[in-house]
Amino acid sequence: MARHTVVTMPGDGIGNQVLPEALRVLQAVGFDAQYIHADIGWECWRNQGNALPERTIDLLTKHKLGLFGAITSKPNKEAQAELKPELQGKGLVYYSPIVTMRQKFNLDICMRPCIGFTGNPLNYIRKRVDDDYDEPQIDTTVFRQNTEGMYAGIEWTNPPENVRAALNSHPKFKAFTNVPGLDIAVSVRIITRPAARRIVTAAFDYAKKRGFKGVTICEKPNVVRETSGMMEETAKEVARNYPGIALWSTNIDAQLMWLNKNPEDYNVIVASNLFGDILSDAFAGLVGGLGFAASGNIGDEVAVFEPTHGSAPKYAELNPPIVNPIAMILSAVMMLEHVGENEKAKRIKDAVSTVVKEGKVRTYDMMRISGGAKAISQGAASTIQMTDAILAKLR
Ligand code: NAI
Ligand code: MG
Repeated sequence: MARHTVVTMPGDGIGNQVLPEALRVLQAVGFDAQYIHADIGWECWRNQGNALPERTIDLLTKHKLGLFGAITSKPNKEAQAELKPELQGKGLVYYSPIVTMRQKFNLDICMRPCIGFTGNPLNYIRKRVDDDYDEPQIDTTVFRQNTEGMYAGIEWTNPPENVRAALNSHPKFKAFTNVPGLDIAVSVRIITRPAARRIVTAAFDYAKKRGFKGVTICEKPNVVRETSGMMEETAKEVARNYPGIALWSTNIDAQLMWLNKNPEDYNVIVASNLFGDILSDAFAGLVGGLGFAASGNIGDEVAVFEPTHGSAPKYAELNPPIVNPIAMILSAVMMLEHVGENEKAKRIKDAVSTVVKEGKVRTYDMMRISGGAKAISQGAASTIQMTDAILAKLR
C-alpha cells in the first residue's frame, strides 16, 4: 500500500492541464502515493446543483490531503442560467466550492510563498541612483486567514428587518437609516480571537523555522478598529512567545506602497482574509505572477494545495496547452513539505530553479508575450515541455 493518499481535484479549465503535470513530477521524485480523482467545479454545479459534491467531501474527510487545480465561478444570474433544465427554479444557489471547502474543513491557514527564482525575466527590478538596476531577492510568504473576515460570506443586499434593527442600534448607522433596503448592501467582517491566534502563530512558527528576524502584521487598526484591532492585539500577544523575532506592523495601503520600494524587507506577512488575498497577489506579481504563485490551505486535519490562479478559460481549449505549470508544481512541493517529504520537495525546487535560471525553456508568460495559439510559434514552451524540462533537471 502507498504511504500517502492524495485526493486530486483538477476542477475546471486549465486545472485539468496543470494538475497532471504536477503528478508527473511527484511520480518522478518517487513520492509514495496513490491518487484518487474527485470532481469539483462548474460541471458539478451544472449537473448536480452543487460545485462541491458529497463524494469529494467524503474523500477529503477520509484521506485529509488534497491537490486542487482551479475552478470556474460565474455571477449568480449566469450560474442559474447554466444549470441543467431539471435543476432550474429549485432555489439552488451557487457557492464557490473552494471557499466552501476552506470553511467546511476549517482550512484556516492559507500560506502563499512568493519567492523569486534567479533568472526569471518577470522578477521585480529597481532602478538605482547610478541608473543601473537592482534585482533584490524576494522571499516573502503571506499568511492569510482563510475562513473569516470579509470572505465569511455573511452578507445581504436589502438586509432583513432584524439585521437592520441591529444595525440601527449602532450610532454610526444613523447616516444610513433612511436608505431603502434594496439600495443597501452589507458584508460583515468577522474576526475571532482563536482564528487570529492560529494564523499569527503559523506565521511566527514559519519565521522561526526559516530563521527570519521579524513578522509583519498588515491590517488597518487605526480605521477598522474592532476587527483589525483584534488581529493586531492578538499578534502582539503571540509575539511574546517568540523572543528574538520582532513584530512589525503596517497598514494595508502603506504596505502596497512599500512592496514596490523595498519588497525584500518583508519575509513573513500575516493578515486577515481579504487583505491577505490582496497582499499575496501583489507580492506574487513581483516574482513572476500567476504562473509562479502556489498556495496551501491548511487546517488541523485536512490540507489542500493549489495554485493561486483560476481556470483561465480562454486558454483551456488550446492544444498543446500553453499555461505555466510551475505554480501547480510548486503547490505540490508545498504538499510534500507539509507531509515531511522535504528532500523530495527540495529536489523539485532545485530543478525548477535550474530551468528558470537557464532560461532555455519558457512558457509564454515568462516571455512577456500574449497567450493564445500563436504563443508556441513565437517560441514559447508548451505546458508539457516546461514539465519535461523540469523532469530532465531532477537529480
Ligand atoms: P485566472 O487566474 O484564471 O486567469 C487570469 C489570467 O492569468 C489568465 O488569462 C492568464 O493570462 C493568466 N494565467 C493564469 N494562470 C496562468 C498560468 N498557469 N500560466 C500562465 N498564465 C496564467 O483568473 P480570471 O481570468 O480572473 O478567472 C477565470 C476563472 O477562474 C473565473 O471563473 C474565476 O472565478 C476563476 N478563479 C478561480 C480560482 C480558484 O480556482 N482558486 C482563483 C481565481 C479565479
Ligand atoms: Mg486571489
